[in-house]
Amino acid sequence: MTSDKQQMTKLWYKNAIFYELHIRAFCDSNGDGKGDLPGVVSKLDYLQSLGVDCLWLLPMFPSPLKDDGYDVADYFHIHPDYGTVDDFRRLVAEAHARGMRVITDLVLNHTSDQHPWFIESRKSKDNPYRDYYVWSETDQKYTDARVIFVDTEPSNWTFDPQTGEYYWHRFYASQPDLNYDNPEVAQKMMDVLRFWLDMGIDGFRADAVPYLFEREGTNCENLPETHVYLKKVRAMMDAEYPGTILLGEANQWPHDLRPYFGGDENDPTVPGDEFHMAFHFPVMPRIFKAFKTENSADVIQIMRDTPSIPENAQWCVFLRNHDELTLEMVTEEDRQFMWREYAPDPKMRLNLGIRRRLAPLLDNNRRKIEAANAILFSLPGAPIIYYGDEIGMGDNIDLFDRNGVRTPMQWTGEKGAGFSTADPATFYAPLIDDDTFGYRRVNVAAQKTDLDSLWHTMRKMIAVRKAHPVFGNGDLEFVPHDNPAVLAYFRRDARETILVLVNLSATAQKITLTAGDLMKAPPYDIVTGEPVAPDGTSLWLQPYQYRWLHIG
Ligand code: NOJ
Repeated sequence: MTSDKQQMTKLWYKNAIFYELHIRAFCDSNGDGKGDLPGVVSKLDYLQSLGVDCLWLLPMFPSPLKDDGYDVADYFHIHPDYGTVDDFRRLVAEAHARGMRVITDLVLNHTSDQHPWFIESRKSKDNPYRDYYVWSETDQKYTDARVIFVDTEPSNWTFDPQTGEYYWHRFYASQPDLNYDNPEVAQKMMDVLRFWLDMGIDGFRADAVPYLFEREGTNCENLPETHVYLKKVRAMMDAEYPGTILLGEANQWPHDLRPYFGGDENDPTVPGDEFHMAFHFPVMPRIFKAFKTENSADVIQIMRDTPSIPENAQWCVFLRNHDELTLEMVTEEDRQFMWREYAPDPKMRLNLGIRRRLAPLLDNNRRKIEAANAILFSLPGAPIIYYGDEIGMGDNIDLFDRNGVRTPMQWTGEKGAGFSTADPATFYAPLIDDDTFGYRRVNVAAQKTDLDSLWHTMRKMIAVRKAHPVFGNGDLEFVPHDNPAVLAYFRRDARETILVLVNLSATAQKITLTAGDLMKAPPYDIVTGEPVAPDGTSLWLQPYQYRWLHIG
């Protein structure tokens, strides 16, 4: 391999299409009504044909499932519902054989209260594992730290009668926080990483990273100690497992996210030495807001507020995931607006967010769904698709917590939806079965045979994006123009300039570009392959129409 090629391979994540899936929800191979690893293996060809480059698997470890697996009881095995470590090895090998990569969730911040460390820790104040967790005689420590699961947890402290002290937890009380001030904990978690990396995985989605350390007088988020630890993790991975990545989950403002990439904030040529990737949380709700206000201003503003990141780093952009659509990174006024507009029924709300899927949020309006994806696939960053959103699956707001967006994948219109041969009444969660989003109507098989389906559109969009590396590597520049209902930006690198136009409104819109760029060369639409004839410097866009125009 030439060194250029080697470098590109090392930076594979910069222009990869990610696909987030929940093993329990994807495909059941043994007829017990729960998805499993062999089930995922059986669908790898499907994912490959969609154009997926990297799978992100939600936690797959033994767990009492009080938080659907984010409460890990054993870091070295697979949850028996999902299969075995050998099944996992096979999944990695089969994905690699198809040119796809696999990253898994890494829950660093906390364990389950059923983890043997915590069972020991709570036994007595002098237990050797006592210091693995954060204990206190009083619940009046770290009072500046916010409660995250506000709907269920009154405090970050829970009293444990066995020893008469409180333990610290940023999420459910059944998820005690590990104590990273204890070097043994820090070291043991490195062993966990190595265990899975030795199996050939391509990295981790690192859960809840802002909260690893606690310090009095702070909000206990993004502390310097946290960055020091994460840099050590990165250094270990770079040295021992080159080419593997850390994708950080830090639900923070852009300026608080920037330090997670490391390097030098003033010089993007200095390589990042912390996370390779981080989710861009703040842009996501602003995309949804833009469709309601028919105004691009907030999306533009948040991208302008987004600092540059090291050349070897990348953002991850997403529209939806397995959690509620978080409204933590918006103002109180915008939160109220989003709840009013997108979650009119209180059952649709959870904590500081909205527990709904993409298609129902966008009124199942095909044009709007495509327009939202056109933004997702053209913004700087690597896009993530949440399983089922490629076919426009619905949700079930009657289910507990976030389970309503984690229902079985809809493969076919037959009984069991092709998800499982078990009696559907015994599935881990009910299939979506309503008139609009039910599996008889919305399923992979039907959409694959219909060339006009959302699935084919998504597949095409992915292919077009991949054919134009500028989307992964290019600069972003907003286009000055006269119509706020149209989001307009250039993506530009040394080889190509693409003009992205998205009509955020339900009516036709005309934009007049004040920049001369459109005129330099006759533009053509890289999705349809057709030339576009602007009227002078003006262009019309139909309701929710988007265009990706090659202009040079
Ligand atoms: C973030 C995960 O996405 C969420 O599902 C989980 O409940 C919390 N972290 C706690 O692990």
